[in-house]
Amino acid sequence: MTKVLLVGQDKGGVGKTLISRGLAEVIAGAPLIEVDSSQRMLELGKRVKFFQTRADREAIERTGGAAARAEFDPVIDAIASASLPTIVDIGANTAASLLPVIADLTEDFAAAGIEFGVLVVTTAEPGALAWVPKLLSIAEPFTGMRFVIENRVEGEIDPKMLSKVAAGATVACLMNQVMDEQAAAILQAGGLASIAKLDAKALHAKFGIAQGSRIRRDLTRVRLDVMQSVRLVAEWLVT
Ligand SMILES: Nc1ncnc2c1ncn2[C@@H]1O[C@H](COP(=O)(O)OP(=O)(O)O)[C@@H](O)[C@H]1O
Ligand SMILES: [Mg+2]
Repeated sequence: MTKVLLVGQDKGGVGKTLISRGLAEVIAGAPLIEVDSSQRMLELGKRVKFFQTRADREAIERTGGAAARAEFDPVIDAIASASLPTIVDIGANTAASLLPVIADLTEDFAAAGIEFGVLVVTTAEPGALAWVPKLLSIAEPFTGMRFVIENRVEGEIDPKMLSKVAAGATVACLMNQVMDEQAAAILQAGGLASIAKLDAKALHAKFGIAQGSRIRRDLTRVRLDVMQSVRLVAEWLVT
């Protein structure tokens, strides 16, 4: 069986792509599938297969016509042809419609040798939290493992609330990462993969020794924190 991890949350900006990048750092060479309105993980080059979702997707779906039904065909085919543990970063407003399509194909995926896990990322924002039980319950029938990552970028989630919404899933946590604006820009542009390659001398020349060193220290910590947050998920994916 080939394991495929579906990373989802219909709210945007909660850290799905950052966490997918963390998994890509932990599992060297693992292929990724990115389903989004625009491609983000450019730094990973050919490791990523990108499938564009249309901005008018919701309107198309309401029609229920042929276009809506065929929308995810290329994504489904790419998942079914996975032969290595694969990370699927499902962009905003998409998991709630993609997961049921996968659920309908449970037997076909099993025949193709694909075993699924799901990772729902959430912040403390109520709109994001509300998606957690919904997405977990859609995924429950066809996933062997379910994970939730609490991203504390908007503060800690009340532990009782978290264990309620994440019932049946393995929970991990990513702390809020404090960094300079320049560090955030480097992270935004080059993802986590660029951090291990940062050149200290070039940073000192550009930002001065104090800020340059801080940027490198902060980004190194961000990379390690994100990798740490996905450790259990990665263990499932590769064993
Ligand atoms: N724990 C965190 N601390 C600091 N910044 C974060 C954290 N989680 C996410 N971010 C930042 O928030 C922004 C949105 O994250 P992203 O992974 O693109 O979200 P999504 O893929 O869910 O839309 C990015 O700039 C990302 O680096
Ligand atoms: Mg994203």
